[in-house]
Amino acid sequence: MDIWEKLASRDNRSPGDFERDGILVCGHCGQPKQFWLEERGIRMLLPITCACEEREMREERTRQELEQFRLDMAAAQEKFGITDTSFYRMTFESDDGHNAKASAVCRRYVDKWESVRKGNYGILFYGTVGTGKSFLACSIVNALLAKGVRATVTNFPRLLNLLQSARDRQEIIDHLQFYELLAIDDLGVERDSGYATEQIFGVIDARARSGLPLIVTTNLTLDELTHPPTMHYQRIYDRVLDLCPVRLKLIGASRRAGNAEARREKARELLLDEKVL
Ligand SMILES: Nc1ncnc2c1ncn2[C@@H]1O[C@H](COP(=O)(O)OP(=O)(O)OP(=O)(O)O)[C@@H](O)[C@H]1O
Ligand SMILES: [Mg+2]
Repeated sequence: MDIWEKLASRDNRSPGDFERDGILVCGHCGQPKQFWLEERGIRMLLPITCACEEREMREERTRQELEQFRLDMAAAQEKFGITDTSFYRMTFESDDGHNAKASAVCRRYVDKWESVRKGNYGILFYGTVGTGKSFLACSIVNALLAKGVRATVTNFPRLLNLLQSARDRQEIIDHLQFYELLAIDDLGVERDSGYATEQIFGVIDARARSGLPLIVTTNLTLDELTHPPTMHYQRIYDRVLDLCPVRLKLIGASRRAGNAEARREKARELLLDEKVL
């Protein structure tokens, strides 16, 4: 059987399809699912894809690509472990809208990702303790991951541990550029040592040279970032400020106190209920 005969014998009829002028027509989109072809003097009725089938094939391709993407991301995490997986819980879906303006900027950042990526625009979240900086940074990363963009969150204490025990430090630093968006949580909490600042500089400088966006969260003030105590920190913070032209200041009371009160209330309801005790 030659290729034409094989093609001609493919049955692409679905329930609801009908015939018009001897040609099979899709019952959903109304497009023909067959066409006449003349080959070496023989007329053959061959199947073609209608709009519905095209869409199904596109959707299936996207599903497969996303599945492969998830496998790749899981393999990277398995190999390098740069992310604390608790960050997956912080998403725009669980956003209570407390920082409505900052949230809106973050959602726009995700919506306009292609242009953000091209312009290499990072965000600096700075401000007081417990105000939602990590929450928004992680929400951006999770929203991009859902779109199939390689994005991740890490922090320097974790990276320093990995770098210290690694046989090949450069491999880890190179791996960070596998992520189109890298978020570094809590800049400034790492121990203050010559070794730490050298490694932090290595990571930030490599990111700056990669031309890829960086998000940073920190409790440091803009003044502390622009007037660091030593030249070493100046070289680090100067690059961070350059990489993060979008600055979002989050201030106010720590949200953890309110969360802790709500949790205490729930625990009381659960454990002090007569039915439970
Ligand atoms: N928009 C939000 N919607 C729901 N929960 C939030 C939101 N922002 C913050 N939270 C919750 O409030 C708590 C503190 O938020 P988060 O850890 O993001 O603060 P932070 O500014 O990073 O604090 P720190 O300076 O200590 O690192 C967390 O439990 C977080 O899940
Ligand atoms: Mg934080």
